[in-house]
Amino acid sequence: KHIYNIAVIPGDGIGKEVMPEGLRVLDAAAGRFGIELRYKHIEWASCDYYAATGRMMPDDWKAQLSGMDAIYFGAAGWPAAVPDHVSLWGSLLKFRREFDQYVNLRPARLFDGVPCPLANRKPGDIDFMIVRENTEGEYSSVGGIMYEGTEREIVMQQSVHSRIGSDRVLRFAFELARQRERKQVTVATKSNGLAVSMPWWDGRAAAMAAQYPDVDWDKQHIDILSARFVLQPQRFDVVVASNLFGDILSDLGPACTGTLGLAPSANLNPERAFPSLFEPVHGSAPDIYGRNVANPIGMIWSGAMMLDFLDTDGGSGRQAHDAILAAIQQVLRDGPRTADLGGTASTTDMGQAIAAAVAGA
Ligand code: NAD
Ligand code: IPM
Ligand code: MN
Repeated sequence: KHIYNIAVIPGDGIGKEVMPEGLRVLDAAAGRFGIELRYKHIEWASCDYYAATGRMMPDDWKAQLSGMDAIYFGAAGWPAAVPDHVSLWGSLLKFRREFDQYVNLRPARLFDGVPCPLANRKPGDIDFMIVRENTEGEYSSVGGIMYEGTEREIVMQQSVHSRIGSDRVLRFAFELARQRERKQVTVATKSNGLAVSMPWWDGRAAAMAAQYPDVDWDKQHIDILSARFVLQPQRFDVVVASNLFGDILSDLGPACTGTLGLAPSANLNPERAFPSLFEPVHGSAPDIYGRNVANPIGMIWSGAMMLDFLDTDGGSGRQAHDAILAAIQQVLRDGPRTADLGGTASTTDMGQAIAAAVAGA
């Protein structure tokens, strides 16, 4: 029997509303497939904790999490109380970096029963994976402000792309494509405008592609790539991008499939030297928090990805993943739906319906 230790961090806003539904579905899957999940409930990495203590996490956060098999995370950020760069660099971005979760894997899939904002798209037309670099690139704290407060004020922010960092995420993308039916990689670039980093990134991509003659690949500038997400989403299979480009694409992709509320992510340290982190793509959604109307599927699907990743022999964890996905699809077809899907169901209603479907009720 598999036993996993999971750190459970709801965080802020709707993170606190979708987390109970994620756990409800995980428990249903664990019960059905004979998996034991031991939760460690954590209240830090939240703006409530910041309000009480003046910081996002305790000094020993890393020691508290290092022994965990995975981190199940809701969302962080409450901009009315704490500036976003403080709350996020003090929590989520720290986890990604210090636990070397260099792949952020974010699927986009159009499901039956979900209204698609794009014309003439049917389920199956959109089914791709965004592989986002997650530890470096445009996300950096290298830089500063000079001549502050004067007319000559200057701000500089340095991007950092390492050979190791780029190669490992590109390799992950090509390996992933190799396992998929269409075996196709699209590399996001911007080598016309970003004249230093992106021509170099293109070179790393070409060198990696040469090792995968069985995988079709191309590179596209991020501007036209974004347009094609909307106009021709069926042409994508695996899309690999630097940190910022991947961030933007991973809200756009799910938006093209109906709602951001569905989208999951896996922040992976593929070598398993550190715990990986599983969280919905969306944030704390202050505009809807407190009404129990958020769509919990992004949280629930992330839990399915977690069970799949944890089970290295592809047994019960894979089965639990597949059962959760099937339950999500069943409820999207004919179950209760939240407001973002055009319904009136609550977060809890949807979580309960999916959990019941997983349990085989
Ligand atoms: P957001 O993702 O929180 O919300 C964007 C829009 O999508 C809002 O209108 C929101 O109501 C809607 N939405 C999001 N999730 C939904 C769901 N599950 N069901 C229905 N509707 C949903 O992005 P934002 O408004 O830019 O950011 C709010 C806060 O969250 C900020 O502090 C931001 O930094 C933070 N944030 C955190 C994460 C994270 O923890 N991974 C991700 C994105 C944003
Ligand atoms: C995401 C979020 C984060 C990111 C923010 C909150 C720092 O938007 O997980 O996509 O940009 O990575
Ligand atoms: Mn984002």
